[in-house]
Amino acid sequence: MRKRVLLAVTALAAANPALAQVVAQAQSPGKLVGVSVSIDGDGRPSYAVTYKGKALIANSALGFLFTDAPKLDRSFKLVDAASSASDISWTQPFGEWTTIRDNHTEFRVRLREAKNLQREMIVTFRLFDDGVGFRYTLPAQANLSKVNIAEELTEFAFAEDGTAWWKPAYGWNREEYLYERTAISALGTAQTVATFKLASGTHVAVHEAALVDYSAMNLARFSGTRLRASLTPGAGAPKVSRDAGFSTPWRTIAIGDDASALYKASQITLNLNEPNKLGDVSWIVPGKFAGVWWNMIKGEWTWARGPKHGATNANVRRYIDFASSAGIPNLLVEGWNVGWDGDWFGNGKDMDFTRPTEDFDIKALVAYGKRKNVRLVGHHETGGSASHYDNQLERAFKFAADHGMMVVKTGYVTDAGEIERTDADGSQRREWHEGQWMMNHHLRVVQTAAKHRVAVDPHEPVKDTGLRRTYPNWVAREGGRGMEYMSWGGKNPPEHEANMVFTQLLGGPMDFTPGIVSLKGSDNSDIPSTLAKQLANYVTIYSPFVMVADTPEAYAKVPAAFQFIKDVPTDWSDTRVLAGEVGDYAVFARKQKGREDWYLGAVGDEEARAIDVRLDFLTAGKTYTAQIYRDADDADYRTDKRHNIAIETRKVTSADRLTLKLAPGGGQAIRFVAGR
Ligand code: NOJ
Ligand code: CA
Repeated sequence: MRKRVLLAVTALAAANPALAQVVAQAQSPGKLVGVSVSIDGDGRPSYAVTYKGKALIANSALGFLFTDAPKLDRSFKLVDAASSASDISWTQPFGEWTTIRDNHTEFRVRLREAKNLQREMIVTFRLFDDGVGFRYTLPAQANLSKVNIAEELTEFAFAEDGTAWWKPAYGWNREEYLYERTAISALGTAQTVATFKLASGTHVAVHEAALVDYSAMNLARFSGTRLRASLTPGAGAPKVSRDAGFSTPWRTIAIGDDASALYKASQITLNLNEPNKLGDVSWIVPGKFAGVWWNMIKGEWTWARGPKHGATNANVRRYIDFASSAGIPNLLVEGWNVGWDGDWFGNGKDMDFTRPTEDFDIKALVAYGKRKNVRLVGHHETGGSASHYDNQLERAFKFAADHGMMVVKTGYVTDAGEIERTDADGSQRREWHEGQWMMNHHLRVVQTAAKHRVAVDPHEPVKDTGLRRTYPNWVAREGGRGMEYMSWGGKNPPEHEANMVFTQLLGGPMDFTPGIVSLKGSDNSDIPSTLAKQLANYVTIYSPFVMVADTPEAYAKVPAAFQFIKDVPTDWSDTRVLAGEVGDYAVFARKQKGREDWYLGAVGDEEARAIDVRLDFLTAGKTYTAQIYRDADDADYRTDKRHNIAIETRKVTSADRLTLKLAPGGGQAIRFVAGR
């Protein structure tokens, strides 16, 4: 049912330019979340959000600056406003939950400039009981045909201060920064997902959904707790250039009473994306992959040809044997192609994704893998030479498909703002990893891959805004500091995973590359984690494709612990966050798709802690065997005892509770095997 929600504007606002007057408002289906739109005496529109009747986002500006036209931010009058209800459920082909409910109120507000150009701007809100999304539509109109956006004026003015967890934006290392923890009123310029815990305890995550043909949004603090959109730059003057008659990505505000609820609230990102456009995607079979990889990250092997080349026939055969014996269906091989020999950092001009090196007999290796039920995972490292990649996209994915590859990992290793773009007329520019042009590049890759029935997993990507719903072959991405940083200097601190699951991972799956059971990085350096935590990451960090990232030799040394990695699936019918505090700890329980078994993963930070959890997610009346992989009593990430793990089993039911003891830098993994 469509309702008119127009309110009378009183004379008050006109008399006092600063005073904003509410002109339209709406509520979420269960009335937990409210949005109002106001216009002040200068005709400046703003929106505000309430949660459980309390102000959450105070009046926050809406509008745009253009590079070639007067800005769109004032002299507005409300034309009309209407709301409608929708409550559907939809199914993910694979994911954290099989079924997702999309229950929202849509609230559409039409504004028009009352003088001068009289341009129209529509703001559509979707109100869920645990969040809000809104987007602008700029219809094609007499005084607006080409839209060249200099900046979006959208604000997020928190009604109270609190704590913020955020990654700085625009640094040379793109999305690969550690999380800052500051007061909201001390935030700088943040990438999204940015997560906030308000003084009242309410948790909020600000992000975006359906980022298509537009620049990614960052958040810059304007004053106090008032944040403003800051769009990623483009090579030319406008940050976004479009023909009028389009809608922006959704700006999203997920809301939860605590960190656990925020994880579920992040379904808003998927709900605001369009349904699957690819049709049958049963050819995408979630699973794990091993890799000719960690030895390169450690510097013991090279991607380039030479005496230490990793991707040799002998090594790849050995890794296929390992994957096969562990029941791992895929094997990533990096450095398999011509182009790595020079300086490939920031330069992929020599990369050819259809030309294997001489010591990598792809035909024979694919055939060998086939006999052993292991497919190769492709690798396209572009070194940031995106146009060079565009030029070979079609044949590169045909080549991958012809060699039985279901997934290709891509990479864009170059500094932020240094992506190479060459246009058809030969002109050259430098682009940002998250600008409009690169966003479109990624979609070209995903769509070309889909044509060949190949899935993609970009590293140094554009952030995840839920497009996996529309393009399910966009299965994962990096976009943060994964395990590779545990090899190098400046390692991820113990709190890193507890930060990530409540920030970046609210946006979608990450190719984190877990499972470094040797706890050893380059130069034999120690990794600041316990062994049990390496197992727990398989449950806490979701991705349909998950790496078994260490070497075969490393797994051979810990067969009992490796059993968990062999058992754990990568596709789930249900996910519950049993406990968590951003940056401190997180406990996830996930149910194996198509099975009754549950898996639990708990990760902590540098503190030892005991977390009491109820097992009421298990099916009542069933007995389960809990296979517990916990930190040994003396385990500690700071000492050699980090390797110490205790593995035990016990019978449990849904009526039981467990106390999960985490060592400093520790974790715990449990498989609950359902009795028949
Ligand atoms: C950085 C990626 O994150 C890593 O996984 C990859 O091995 C290298 N680039 C080379 O492509
Ligand atoms: Ca990386």
